[in-house]
Amino acid sequence: MFTRPSLPRGTIGGMRANSSRRAVLAAVAAAPVMAAGVSAAPAPAEAASERPLVIAHRGASHYAPENTMAAFDLAMDLRSDLVETDVQRTKDGVLVLVHDTDLKRTTNIEQRYPGRRSYAVKDTTWAEIKTLDAGSWKAAKYRGERIPTLSSLVRRVKERRSGLLLELKSPSLYPGIEQQIDRIFRASGFVSYGRATGKVQVQSFDFTSMKRYHAIDPWMPVGLLGRPYRWELDDLTWADQVNPNYLASDATYVRDLHAQGFVSYTWTVNDEIGMNMVLDRGHDGIITNRPDLAHSVLLTRG
Ligand code: G3P
Ligand code: CA
Repeated sequence: MFTRPSLPRGTIGGMRANSSRRAVLAAVAAAPVMAAGVSAAPAPAEAASERPLVIAHRGASHYAPENTMAAFDLAMDLRSDLVETDVQRTKDGVLVLVHDTDLKRTTNIEQRYPGRRSYAVKDTTWAEIKTLDAGSWKAAKYRGERIPTLSSLVRRVKERRSGLLLELKSPSLYPGIEQQIDRIFRASGFVSYGRATGKVQVQSFDFTSMKRYHAIDPWMPVGLLGRPYRWELDDLTWADQVNPNYLASDATYVRDLHAQGFVSYTWTVNDEIGMNMVLDRGHDGIITNRPDLAHSVLLTRG
């Protein structure tokens, strides 16, 4: 039976979740992944000082095709603290990493299987999906990139001692997906011990799904995508993060979130001006297609 030490709500490893938030973020991100057989190379976050996290949106997707192993590997090469990706489920129950609920934009499915009534992920089998080219739409050099499974990314992130921010995309289409994800994480020993942050975290626009996940594993940091009203926050304290679009956030809102003990990442910020703006607001992480730029902005700010 899987057990983790119990700490009072609002604490991470004995520290108050809302005291010196950035120190806590860095400290917990630096905590070892519960992994057997990982290499001894230092994790990117282990080198991190007290600073907001750099989170690679769909991998380093400015440079490589989103949600492919090429984009994830590049994100880790670029020292992202967490790799953000989107999980959905095939017709035959395999968890795969793809953003859209259908496969037309980022793969060659229409050429490969012409005339189908549906190109939805949920209507396509893994045997079919694994043959699709998920790279050519971005650039010819990425031809042959595949849609990865969640299990394959968990293995890779563990090997590289990096971290994962997993978005449950349209989970209402996939009943029981929270339990299924939890089984994969536990089977691979890829678990978080912190309530507010950790080596693996989940988020969704679907708050009900996140509440279900929290019930399944109260130790998994769960994030709410969007910008709940201030008056709604009191009922959402079971969640660990509130992660708004950067166009919808402001310094007062971030201050209110922190006062309530939430961590807040913001998305999707791909230019220097935007990055400085969200850092000034006090966000705890930048979700970006360009993790290299985020590091350079952080470096410039000192
Ligand atoms: O991580 C936040 C962001 O990924 C949410 O939007 O559409 O890119 O999944 P989307
Ligand atoms: Ca996403």
